[in-house]
Amino acid sequence: MRIFEEMESEVRGYIRSFPAIFDTAVGSQMFDEHGNRYIDFFAGAGSLNYGHNNPAVKEAMIEYLQHDGVLHGLDKATVAKKQFLQKFRDTILAPRNLEYKVQFTGPTGTNAVETALKLARMVKQRSNIIAFTNAYHGLSMGSLAVTGNAFYRDESYGVRANSAFVPFDGYMGKDFDSMAYLRRLLSDQSSGVDLPAAIIVETVQGEGGIHVARDAWLQELQAICREFDILLIIDDIQMGNGRTGTFFSFERAGITPDMVTVSKSIGTGLPMSLLLMRPELDQWKPGEHTGTFRGNNLAFVAATKALEYWDSPDFAEGIAHKGRLFEDGLNAIVDRHGEAQGELRGVGMVWGIDFANEAFAGSVSEEAFNRGLIIETAGANGQVLKFLPALTIEEELITEGLAIIDEAISSVLAKGRKLRAGRLA
Ligand SMILES: Cc1ncc(COP(=O)(O)O)c(C=O)c1O
Repeated sequence: MRIFEEMESEVRGYIRSFPAIFDTAVGSQMFDEHGNRYIDFFAGAGSLNYGHNNPAVKEAMIEYLQHDGVLHGLDKATVAKKQFLQKFRDTILAPRNLEYKVQFTGPTGTNAVETALKLARMVKQRSNIIAFTNAYHGLSMGSLAVTGNAFYRDESYGVRANSAFVPFDGYMGKDFDSMAYLRRLLSDQSSGVDLPAAIIVETVQGEGGIHVARDAWLQELQAICREFDILLIIDDIQMGNGRTGTFFSFERAGITPDMVTVSKSIGTGLPMSLLLMRPELDQWKPGEHTGTFRGNNLAFVAATKALEYWDSPDFAEGIAHKGRLFEDGLNAIVDRHGEAQGELRGVGMVWGIDFANEAFAGSVSEEAFNRGLIIETAGANGQVLKFLPALTIEEELITEGLAIIDEAISSVLAKGRKLRAGRLA
């Protein structure tokens, strides 16, 4: 680890939570330089829904490289991009009756968010954007302004202008109607909240701690957006690509957002981001919003191959089935360890246990890593243990991974008891 400590910036994060030098990875398993195996319940923060080195995707990429396919294309037309657009239209958009135009933005998620916010402001000629408590939309300046957590949003960065935050579904408890509150803010000209160009929302907040918006809440949000002439942007960067059970996470609510940001797993681990927009919103002049890395052709090849998973309903059925295995397994774990006071939340293949003691999830993640399982924390204070496995994970690995979690929780609880007993003695 010395070279990393010596040379790499202090900003490094996951390397500290998972202190191993990883070498190879296949499916839902990673191996370090000494050959130690780790089950992966983190999946590259949701970028590896199809697993590490998915064999079909890998083969398509090797073939493309071997025939000297164009790698870097700016936004030129290439065969790889043509095939991606055709596949995306035929397999994803058309069967869902969605008629979005596709914009290739810079390669990371935050690039897609920046693009959406800029376009919304341009089209509506308003600067304000409404976002939600606990939102996470990326860390470049525009995205940061609609991201909630103060850990990232230092006041001195001066990026907090032109955004307002409203309670997400459930933030104020079950009885608080945050949509009624939003409607009041928008209709009262003395509320102090400017009419926004757009409202940006995750249907399930990932980094914010696995908060699942109810369908009715999302429907009401769409209705309010339409009533007040506000664009609805769904940030599907983490919850899209099948994470919640359907390709887009908003499908369950039957809504049609004006714009959708897509990234992470669309490129199967390679950088790639898209902004989907209703055709009439596509008001860019040619080249007006540009960038050098909008044509990651190897990612297009990988994405086109991975979209074949959506050719049959089997894949979505598999997600539902494995999602239930997680739900049942985690419910049993939460019940068994009542002392930890965990609350389980989630849908599809994204689950979180919110622990009463804020440091608990971090300790469980550490204990799990020592036992060969990679799992992250989320939430305002890292209090949520976050389950984000590949959608292709084998059932045996789910069972094995959940057993490790069970043991890790037992171990953290036992240590806590010992510490308390020591203090009393
Ligand atoms: C919902 C959401 N939006 C945007 C982003 C930012 O993506 P990136 O880290 O690729 O810039 C993330 C990353 O976790 C995310 O979860």
